[in-house]
Amino acid sequence: MTVAGRLAEIADLGRDAERSGYSRHLFDASDPPLRAWFGSSAEALGLLVEEDDDANLWAWWMPQPGAVRHDAIATGSHLDSVPGGGAFDGPLGVASAFEAVAQLRADGFVPVRPIVVCAFAEEEGSRFGLPCLGTRLLTGAADAASALARADAAGVTLEQAWRDSGRDPERVGPDPERLGRLAAFVELHVEQGRDLEDRGLPVSTASAIIPHGRWRLTITGEGNHAGTTTMDLRADPVVAFAGAVQAVREVAASRMPGARGTIGKAQIIPGGTNVIASRVIAWMDLRAFTDDDVREQYALTLQRMRAAVQAEGCTLDVHEESFSARVDFDDELTARVTAALQPEFGQVPAIPTGAGHDAGILSAVLPTAMIFVRNPTGVSHAPGEDARDGDCEAGARALAATLRMLAGSA
Ligand code: GLV
Ligand code: MN
Ligand code: MN
Repeated sequence: MTVAGRLAEIADLGRDAERSGYSRHLFDASDPPLRAWFGSSAEALGLLVEEDDDANLWAWWMPQPGAVRHDAIATGSHLDSVPGGGAFDGPLGVASAFEAVAQLRADGFVPVRPIVVCAFAEEEGSRFGLPCLGTRLLTGAADAASALARADAAGVTLEQAWRDSGRDPERVGPDPERLGRLAAFVELHVEQGRDLEDRGLPVSTASAIIPHGRWRLTITGEGNHAGTTTMDLRADPVVAFAGAVQAVREVAASRMPGARGTIGKAQIIPGGTNVIASRVIAWMDLRAFTDDDVREQYALTLQRMRAAVQAEGCTLDVHEESFSARVDFDDELTARVTAALQPEFGQVPAIPTGAGHDAGILSAVLPTAMIFVRNPTGVSHAPGEDARDGDCEAGARALAATLRMLAGSA
């Protein structure tokens, strides 16, 4: 098979007719068939499939049947997407992991340590607002009780959704015993910028993930009639929101090149053409090179935002939904991945990324590294996200070489 062929098998799952692209969220209609695809891909390669208590999937290639599962080399990524996302962010890492295993099997390679392919739950945080939900629960980076109390846009709590999916929310939480079986994790991912395209290179490793925070903003004004309320009598939260958006942009732009500020999701309540809204709820994503930079960017943004909101006679309430600290990947593991890639690829740069990954969360508990595959458009989290077939195959070969090196000796 090929990586493209594997991705083609899930190409119809979770398509979003309204937004275009893919909307694949935890426990939605696309989730069971995506898990079934993971299971059948793994079983076709003779891997032993299991789901942990945090809804993460694992497919084990054991050196001998019945061998103890320890010192394993883990690889994989996630199968969920952002709303209206692309086909590669997440699934490329899982499909490439299966393809790498298939190549190693075809070559007659026998691992000395177990290899395990993973698909982690809700990496994007698109349904319950917590990015890398599966790995945060697994490692204890997120408290299970507060995660289960989170609600989606329809008000369904994670606990309820968990139960409705046939799983036991009582079992959710850290699993140090499982993590203790892993020696390293290498995540292959489509590049989410144009760095490799500009350098003319098919693959790289990652040096770091820049930090980011996500906040929910609630701007409250006075709901009223669009025709009878003169302009001087309004406290319109949509006008205040416009000032808030401007504040995010101006502060981030003034702190170039590290700072990035986005409001990509908002609700106007109640949402009528002839109604002055009473409330706007919006979600803000701020990123920068260091954790302190993000905190400072947040403070400056909030100062401007409050001024804009007060000028319109509205109030602002802010809630931090998540903070993902900066990650510098393990130098030693990255050097080994680089050494595995160099015979075929020659120049293998280590590049930083502005996107979050499960490899970042897992880096708190074990050595992690990443392999990026060139994206010709540089677009991600949108249907324009792309990777050429030849580069996807190059990525699978890079991952196979990495697994051969890492799992080929004790
Ligand atoms: C996930 O891809 C993120 O960076 O938000
Ligand atoms: Mn993503
Ligand atoms: Mn991803």
